[in-house]
Amino acid sequence: MFLNFFYNPFAMKSSELKKKYIEFFKKKGHKEIINAPLVPENDPTVLFTTAGMHPLVPFLLGEKHPAGKRLVNVQKCIRTGDIDEVGDEVHLTFFEMLGNWSLGDYFKEGAIKMSYEFLTEVLGLDKNRIGVSCFLGDEDAERDNTSANAWEKLGIPKERIVFLGKEDNWWGPAGNTGPCGPDTEIFYYAGKNIPKKFNPRDKKWVEIWNDVFMEYNKIKGGGVELLEQKNVDTGMGIERTVAVLNGFSDVYEIDVLKSLMEKVSKIARGEDVRSKRIIVDHLRAAAFILNEGIAPSNLERGYVLRRLIRRAIRHGRLLGIQDRFCKEIVKEVFIVYKWNYFFREQFILDEVGKEEEKFASTLEQGLKITEKIFSKKTPIKKEKYLKLMQLPNHVEILKDLWNKKQAGKDYSIKEAKISKKEIDKAIITGKEGFLLYQSYGFPAEMIIELAMEKNLLFHRGGFRMELEKHQELSRTAMAGRFKSGLVDHSEKTTRLHTATHLLLQALRNILGDKNIIQKGSNITADRLRFDFNFPRKLTDDEIKKIEGEVNEQIIKGLEVNWKEVKLIDAKKIGITGVFEHKYGDRVKAYFIGDYSKELCSGPHVTNTNELRKFKIIKEESSSAGVRRIKAVLE
Ligand code: ALA
Repeated sequence: MFLNFFYNPFAMKSSELKKKYIEFFKKKGHKEIINAPLVPENDPTVLFTTAGMHPLVPFLLGEKHPAGKRLVNVQKCIRTGDIDEVGDEVHLTFFEMLGNWSLGDYFKEGAIKMSYEFLTEVLGLDKNRIGVSCFLGDEDAERDNTSANAWEKLGIPKERIVFLGKEDNWWGPAGNTGPCGPDTEIFYYAGKNIPKKFNPRDKKWVEIWNDVFMEYNKIKGGGVELLEQKNVDTGMGIERTVAVLNGFSDVYEIDVLKSLMEKVSKIARGEDVRSKRIIVDHLRAAAFILNEGIAPSNLERGYVLRRLIRRAIRHGRLLGIQDRFCKEIVKEVFIVYKWNYFFREQFILDEVGKEEEKFASTLEQGLKITEKIFSKKTPIKKEKYLKLMQLPNHVEILKDLWNKKQAGKDYSIKEAKISKKEIDKAIITGKEGFLLYQSYGFPAEMIIELAMEKNLLFHRGGFRMELEKHQELSRTAMAGRFKSGLVDHSEKTTRLHTATHLLLQALRNILGDKNIIQKGSNITADRLRFDFNFPRKLTDDEIKKIEGEVNEQIIKGLEVNWKEVKLIDAKKIGITGVFEHKYGDRVKAYFIGDYSKELCSGPHVTNTNELRKFKIIKEESSSAGVRRIKAVLE
């Protein structure tokens, strides 16, 4: 829908915005860095990259970036926190983010000035439609008058500057610990009659850019400490900004998403726009996740992927699509993004096709069983149900309902005037949910969605207990890790990370094969997992020898150092590592004594004796020609 097209005569496409942004910041001395993989490297605590700053954490913490102090890029991101909201006009699980960074270079004034120049002079946005928010201040950090003054100096009037607390104007850490700080957010008024005052709660003021001043590090156990350097981390969501620039209130109207919507409309019989959006969003995200080599499964990333595809298929049914359709939509994703991304087309199509086959065969039957289960329940009256869902704390209320410990409590919820009896009669139990999950492959979110469509409730806590009983899915995978968190560069993971460098060298030496390289690495606080190319199972003797050689290096107490080297020299002097996708002409290499030299961005221990003792606990096949080792440190 065109809200008000004539206020901005420049219709803009995503690709143009990207180009303008990168060019502008390059002119301001920034180096363009790669659009990093969606699966973070060496990052134990997150499933997906959720912001452009993710891959930059070590550098925000003070390590030197080979490309310098000013960086810029386009970063693909996945955020599943708001997956239930997808289907409205603005929420997406996959999106692209433009970002510029200062690693201890310019700070508040510099960042704000550049943001303003880009918006008003390059994009030609109407100055009179800009509003900003700044940090109000609390016990961690003072009120951000510096940013507010910088905005005023540029001509933003006082009534267009508001101060808000941590919930609004503080960003990060994305996980439990790490770089974070106050931010200033830039909003653009997308309505007709521009109000004098900026009101961040009015949805017509759309947030388009976030400048975060990362000078703090959140430490374990709470509290923040000052970082060694003051950083700037900014993020501009491409889809939302392009929508605003074109006067659309609906992000699915922008060029890339519109093509996908049109494709769905061609196949669909029904008109439900929410279902169409869910299909577009979920299958676009699925294509990008599959492109990382991840296949649908019941664990972690594979399960996020499975949920996305299955939910899309269900919404396909709601739109009256009887045939298989996922591949068609995914092919359109390839077309839409062909200038920006290289897709492993065959793998993606094969996997999405297999998943659709698998689910389509149980979906029909599962929906029948669902109907049967639902028919035994009494739905909550519509007005009450709506009221319950509108309560600002309805999620907490429902969580309480789902919490086993609350089982004996009186459920009557005052505001919605719902009694315990009404709730009990409307609940899909954990056991019933588990049947749908186990026998028909319905993800929990789908059961919730089905329940909500009929004004019923789902006992998610009971469902989780059933799951645990059957040991299908670990608690971690269900609860913590669906939310993307950020790297916790804890001592444990740092030690394990250094151990992977020793392991790679030991594998090369003992197996006598210089071509062995890392094919994948995943580190949790408890163990490392290391994949490498090798054609056969290792013998017990070989495993012992590898373990022995790693422990020898630990006992020797080798120093761990890094230096920047030219990419061409790195290859010449036999530094190991995956050289593709490396940014700039200089790279960072870690040296462990004379024993190992490897491309890496860290972090590492400073001396191998910190690793104490290394033990391999498993050696197995990972895929054709790739072996997997799991190991621990004592
Ligand atoms: N990292 C910041 C964000 O994602 C810029 O909003």
